[in-house]
Amino acid sequence: MSDSVIALVTGANKGIGYEIAAGLAAKGATVLVGARDAERGRAAAEALTGAGGAAVHVPLDVTDAASVAAAAKWIDDRYGRLDVLVNNAGVLLDWGVPPSRVTPDALRGTYEVNVFGVVAVTNALLPLLRRAPAARIVNLSSEMGSLAVASDPGSRYAQNPVLAYTSSKTALNMVTLGYANELRDTPIKVNAADPGYCATDQNGHTGPRTAAQGANAAVRLATLGPDGPTGGYFTEDASVPW
Ligand SMILES: NC(=O)c1ccc[n+]([C@@H]2O[C@H](COP(=O)([O-])OP(=O)(O)OC[C@H]3O[C@@H](n4cnc5c(N)ncnc54)[C@H](OP(=O)(O)O)[C@@H]3O)[C@@H](O)[C@H]2O)c1
Repeated sequence: MSDSVIALVTGANKGIGYEIAAGLAAKGATVLVGARDAERGRAAAEALTGAGGAAVHVPLDVTDAASVAAAAKWIDDRYGRLDVLVNNAGVLLDWGVPPSRVTPDALRGTYEVNVFGVVAVTNALLPLLRRAPAARIVNLSSEMGSLAVASDPGSRYAQNPVLAYTSSKTALNMVTLGYANELRDTPIKVNAADPGYCATDQNGHTGPRTAAQGANAAVRLATLGPDGPTGGYFTEDASVPW
């Protein structure tokens, strides 16, 4: 069994996920680069390895049950456990679309990745996470999923309600709490990370923060010590109101 922390990051081939993988590799973790596209996944793992980290591509489409099962089996066969799971893969399909014009297909497509994919991956990997001494699960949420923020009519998210995406992140927040509560009597900690508004492909590179800055919250939550929180919702240095 490997001595180093084994960390899987979903959607790690680019954007914030790639930077989370880089941040964990820099801390000595063996990073499993979850990516649905083999070429993009291998290229990312090679870039991380070239920068001095330990990284390997794991084929993983979070919406495909066979792919999720195969990834879990591969990790089990090779490592026998998983120390860190970062559910980063996400889509934003209704950018600029008001709720009155959002389609059920956009909602379904968004939830497939941002909510159902997280549950499928987490459930497939929980047996391996339970075998680690003190596993950490981090879900990439967003301040846009905060009901407290959206219910303030003056907030920027109340002005720009992106219904499929924001509601998927609200659902993901409850998913996070569900696992945190089920696992509260175990050493496993489960938290939601808010990376802030970062320039990535998801938003046409409009965010003021870099993807590397966005990765900080998830890297911190993935490496929490035994006294760290569980069932929380955090930026890199503060709590986010639910
Ligand atoms: N950027 C922001 O300002 C911001 C703010 C708050 C929260 N977030 C969240 O942070 C996470 C990362 O976002 P990002 O901005 O880095 O987005 P991004 O650059 O668009 O990257 C998204 C990643 O998710 C992957 N992905 C999408 N569908 C997938 C699937 N079915 N299976 C596996 N991987 C899949 C993509 O893979 P492909 O390359 O194959 O498409 C890509 O690797 C998301 O959960 C997002 O909602 C972002």
